[in-house]
Amino acid sequence: MFSAGTDTSSVVLEWAVSELIRHPKIMEEVQKEVRGIARGKLMITETDLDEMHYLKSVIKETLRLHPPVPLLVPRESMEKVQIQGYDIPAKTTVLINAFVIGRDPKLWDEPEKFWPKRFLNGGSVSVDFKGQDFQLIPFGSGRRGCPGILFATSIIELTLANLLNRFDWAAPEGMDGKDLNMEEESGITVHRKNDLVLSSKQHYRVV
Ligand code: HEM
Repeated sequence: MFSAGTDTSSVVLEWAVSELIRHPKIMEEVQKEVRGIARGKLMITETDLDEMHYLKSVIKETLRLHPPVPLLVPRESMEKVQIQGYDIPAKTTVLINAFVIGRDPKLWDEPEKFWPKRFLNGGSVSVDFKGQDFQLIPFGSGRRGCPGILFATSIIELTLANLLNRFDWAAPEGMDGKDLNMEEESGITVHRKNDLVLSSKQHYRVV
């Protein structure tokens, strides 16, 4: 529970902030949404999140491009099945490549592009990651799908919203955010290869 529940959520936050640093226009738009709803409040709470549609689409897009557990969890088939013409014998270990599915050009327009608005007014508006839409399955699907999905999404949304509300983020001096290194370190959860080093400024004057 601890390893499945902590590393995964922090990794999503790291990738989400990395993508926003590389896309300053999207950073500006999502901060505008978050700060417009916060209206000067220093601590965003769960009820504020209901209206933060753009923030949620940023998280969805991050989960599409950077599923923290890209091969999900290995499972074993209980009986012989045929899927799309492939015979899968009983007791076969099955790995699902959510990373590749999330970038499949047959399923997504401009799959390599970080474009959260695809979930707001693009062609993928109704697609969600709750296990019903098989093109976006960072939490798996079915009876052994991730039981922590609601907890994880609340924590990620709350943390990201508060980070964006309270601070102005930038790449370190002398570096353009667009050049941020996005190399991955492979593992059960896929982290950034390099630490994410950013500079931040308090947005509100705290007295
Ligand atoms: C962004 C955050 C998270 C992601 C992407 C994620 C992803 C996954 C995936 C892909 C699976 C396997 C699903 C399958 O085989 O169909 C899984 C299983 C699991 N997750 Fe998560 N998870 C996250 C957060 C959490 C949290 C917060 C908890 C607990 C507090 C948690 C607890 C578990 C447990 C216990 C399982 C095993 C379920 C089983 O085998 O029946 N996860 N998770």
